[in-house]
Amino acid sequence: MATNDWSAQQYLKFEAERTRPSRDLLAQIPLKSPKRVVDLGCGPGNSTAVLLSQYPDAQLTGIDSSPDMIRKASATLPNIKFTVEDLNTYAPQEPVDIFFSNAVFQWIPRSKRLEVVKRLMQSQPSGGVFAFQVPDNLAEPSHVAMQETAADGPWAETLSTVGRDTFQSPQEIYDELKPLCSDVNIWHTHYYHSLEDHEAVVEWVKSTGLRPYIGPLSPVDSNSFLKSYLGRLEKLYPKTIDGRVLLRYPRLFVVAVRA
Ligand SMILES: C[S@@+](CC[C@H](N)C(=O)[O-])C[C@H]1O[C@@H](n2cnc3c(N)ncnc32)[C@H](O)[C@@H]1O
Repeated sequence: MATNDWSAQQYLKFEAERTRPSRDLLAQIPLKSPKRVVDLGCGPGNSTAVLLSQYPDAQLTGIDSSPDMIRKASATLPNIKFTVEDLNTYAPQEPVDIFFSNAVFQWIPRSKRLEVVKRLMQSQPSGGVFAFQVPDNLAEPSHVAMQETAADGPWAETLSTVGRDTFQSPQEIYDELKPLCSDVNIWHTHYYHSLEDHEAVVEWVKSTGLRPYIGPLSPVDSNSFLKSYLGRLEKLYPKTIDGRVLLRYPRLFVVAVRA
């Protein structure tokens, strides 16, 4: 696996929690019998499995830029076609009724992400659906603590430009997509995940939000970074009555229907 590749194994440590929003997103899609469905940024195939159970008769495919994720997805769902593709350049060969994307578009740079959505939407038939969900957690203590840890250590200069772009506001999304759509349905959900301890919070973000921070560091610095980050989390998240940690996780959902 390339060092900048995603790790399917690490990602799947919290499979149930990470997959739940894909079910909540799917529940709001008005199309009942789509012909073609594409899971954009399908990861290890967990969101694709949710789509397969809802649309067993559709022609379902998954794309992802990570070879490790695509390997895992293909091994888990051998009857589905998965391909390594970058969303920035991906173009379907035939019209797609449902584009579905769970927890992916936050990784596309802010200036490009809605352009990608609109470009793909333009290829959809009238009544087609573009549904996506993204974490909206950059202001959460777990993510603020990443920035603070990055700015406070021997790695500060190396990590000075690291950080994820904020996501567009609901109105910005609505205003961009509505000219192409008959309906744009947007909502937020706050999940509260009860995790075993603070180390579990680190394990959770290690395969996602922390990747850009620990990726550029040497193994020694990466260990010190994680220790310092853990110390911050221990102060920010008091233990619950049963000795666990409640991780608040806001997520933003969009279901847009092509006019
Ligand atoms: C948080 S995982 C989501 C996986 C899965 N959809 C789920 O529901 O859990 C994000 C996925 O987006 C993929 N990804 C990130 N940037 C991408 C891009 N530009 N093109 C395609 N996939 C991308 C990553 O490789 C990763 O598998």
